[in-house]
Amino acid sequence: MAGLDGIHALITGAASGIGAACARRMAGEGAQLLLADINGDGAKALADELGQTSVQADVTRAADIERMLDLAYQRWGRLDVLFNNAGIAEVRQLLEITENDWDRMLAVNLRAVFFVLQGAAKRMRQQAPIAGSELRGKLIQTASIAAYRGGLANQAHYAASKAGVVSITRTAAQVLARDKITSNCICPGAVDTPMWRKIDREWSKFEGWEIGEAWKRRTSLIPLGRPETAEDVAGVVSFLASRDADYMTGQAVNVDGGLVMGN
Ligand SMILES: NC(=O)c1ccc[n+]([C@@H]2O[C@H](COP(=O)([O-])OP(=O)(O)OC[C@H]3O[C@@H](n4cnc5c(N)ncnc54)[C@H](O)[C@@H]3O)[C@@H](O)[C@H]2O)c1
Repeated sequence: MAGLDGIHALITGAASGIGAACARRMAGEGAQLLLADINGDGAKALADELGQTSVQADVTRAADIERMLDLAYQRWGRLDVLFNNAGIAEVRQLLEITENDWDRMLAVNLRAVFFVLQGAAKRMRQQAPIAGSELRGKLIQTASIAAYRGGLANQAHYAASKAGVVSITRTAAQVLARDKITSNCICPGAVDTPMWRKIDREWSKFEGWEIGEAWKRRTSLIPLGRPETAEDVAGVVSFLASRDADYMTGQAVNVDGGLVMGN
């Protein structure tokens, strides 16, 4: 039996980067997946490749959250794992961040993460336990080591949103334990995805560096000595989704090659 046989999981932000790597990994371990993304074509292409289902959904829209959860419940009658991962990033100096920048960042990275979590939890608490487990469901958020510290002086709004994700992860863990629903988040470091390529372009431009220089400098600080891949993150998400992690809740797990210690 593969590690995620019988697990039904919804992944947001599944068309790219960490979400896509997790979809590949979890599908390989036997999970059935609903891949959601604002980029519906990207989600569909990956779902077709993996023999899974996709849905176009903008997680900042309440109607889209309902539609995507409805689809999971119509298809499977339950949802075992939510991987609440969609997010955005941008580089802005602390003194330059506008109200619009702030609102857009927090709308996707915190508000939407909260309401996706809430919508999934409302349904999960009414379902029978996961096959082979005492739990009814699992919530896994993508936070970041930016929630804690450093290296990201030019992303105050992003860092604040991720600190918020750690916070709601812990509150949900406390509140939902009685319903046998766990809530954990992962905190990746500097992962080689389209998001970091955007950060590199914006950060390098601001500093007057060649493209690639911000990435080079940031990843040179990683104690384990190499940049992080989306697959590095996928292994940990797949573990959290598995029955082996059933007794973990309220945790923020750093998956960063030691970067949070080393800068
Ligand atoms: N790349 C990193 O170094 C890093 C580090 C720590 C945390 N993270 C977090 O990991 C998560 C995934 O990031 P990634 O690096 O894979 O980025 P990515 O840009 O490669 O992928 C993000 C995906 O989210 C989707 N998305 C964005 N807004 C959406 C919305 N409103 N509704 C639905 N989908 C939406 C995008 O279309 C994209 O497919 C994010 O939450 C990010 O903040 C990334």
